[in-house]
Amino acid sequence: MLAEYNPYLEYKDGNLYLDGVSLKALAEEFGTPLYVYSASYIRDRLRAYKKAFPDALICYAVKANFNPHIIAIAKEEGAGADIVSGGELYASLKAGVEPSKIVYAGVGKTIRELEYAIESDILMFNVESFMELDVLNDIAGKLGKKARIAIRVNPDVDPKTHHYISTGMKKSKFGVDIKTAKKEYEYAGKLKNLQVIGIHCHIGSQILDVSPYIEAAQKVVELYHDLTRAGFEIQYLDLGGGLGIKYKPEQSNPEPADLAEAILPVVNNVEAKLILEPGRSIVGNGGVLLTQVQFLKDKGHKHFIIVDAGMNDLVRPAMYEAYHHIVPVEKKERPYIKTDVVGPVCETGDFLALDREMLLVERGEYLAVLSAGAYGFAMSSHYNLRPRACEVLVEKGFYRVIREREDYSYILRS
Ligand SMILES: Cc1ncc(COP(=O)(O)O)c(C=O)c1O
Repeated sequence: MLAEYNPYLEYKDGNLYLDGVSLKALAEEFGTPLYVYSASYIRDRLRAYKKAFPDALICYAVKANFNPHIIAIAKEEGAGADIVSGGELYASLKAGVEPSKIVYAGVGKTIRELEYAIESDILMFNVESFMELDVLNDIAGKLGKKARIAIRVNPDVDPKTHHYISTGMKKSKFGVDIKTAKKEYEYAGKLKNLQVIGIHCHIGSQILDVSPYIEAAQKVVELYHDLTRAGFEIQYLDLGGGLGIKYKPEQSNPEPADLAEAILPVVNNVEAKLILEPGRSIVGNGGVLLTQVQFLKDKGHKHFIIVDAGMNDLVRPAMYEAYHHIVPVEKKERPYIKTDVVGPVCETGDFLALDREMLLVERGEYLAVLSAGAYGFAMSSHYNLRPRACEVLVEKGFYRVIREREDYSYILRS
């Protein structure tokens, strides 16, 4: 069952290993909460995209996990980066990603961020509003540069995922509808410091059914033909990210090959190069969050396992009621129990699992929270003045710290 999450995750001699490294040994050496990522897994996922889309540019969505050592793996595998902030641009450049493979989306880019990205000569700005076109044009003019752009279109398709991560519907703040996009393209075409080179769309995240992609791609291809007829040279069709991963044991998920089978026939008569921006499906199941059991508490009608990882470390359960599978790091005979797994943060919403039927662990033992490689550390915070976790990268039996655990003075530096 674990192999369905990650083929590098396995019990050996009664202990859980990731990519050849004992998770108990890592927890003992570096303490908990601890994020551990498998480089082999991340490489395999990038290669699966490359195999399914040999002619596309894969831009790893840095927001899923911004650790520069993770971005560097994407770079080594030939990927570019999809960014949404100056910070993500900095991390991508630090990881060695070529600016010519960086695309930049986001509804609220600041002047400083736009300047930084223009100066860095990134491939393309995915512009989300009329106003952004004007501001970008002004800044590019002042810097004596031309900014290459796509307009982010909102194809109004339902990705059938959590509403917080549905981004391609009419009511969301992202992009513009196709009719407005046509006007924006016309407008952008007249701005002398912009060069229109692409169309961008991203419909949401954790998408488990590929049919919304087909619907979105059809709309984008129609727009491509309209724009081409109007004289635009559209060189890139950026269809975003969003492919879903396995979180629940019983749940299956589409592979990059399934996505290719769905959308390649739709885009096959398009001259433009395809760009994809996967994040979660690259790193999500590449990582686990290790946490130590602090206390067990039986309130009669309810049982609690209290651990040292809280919502500040992994916010997805509190924020989206997301399910993360949790397994003991040591395998032994144990009874099952129905329990909540909760963190130390002073919020009732601070839980990793609710009413979960799981193996009973003891105080001091370690648990591995699966599928924690994406939107885990990246969404962590200092709430309750809790230092953020340490991150370790493992590959074929070797390991190294890729981010030190924070201490109190680091958080309170002034
Ligand atoms: C513009 C854009 N591209 C790519 C992604 C990556 O999505 P995912 O991690 O689901 O692949 C996101 C995430 O929301 C996004 O907003």
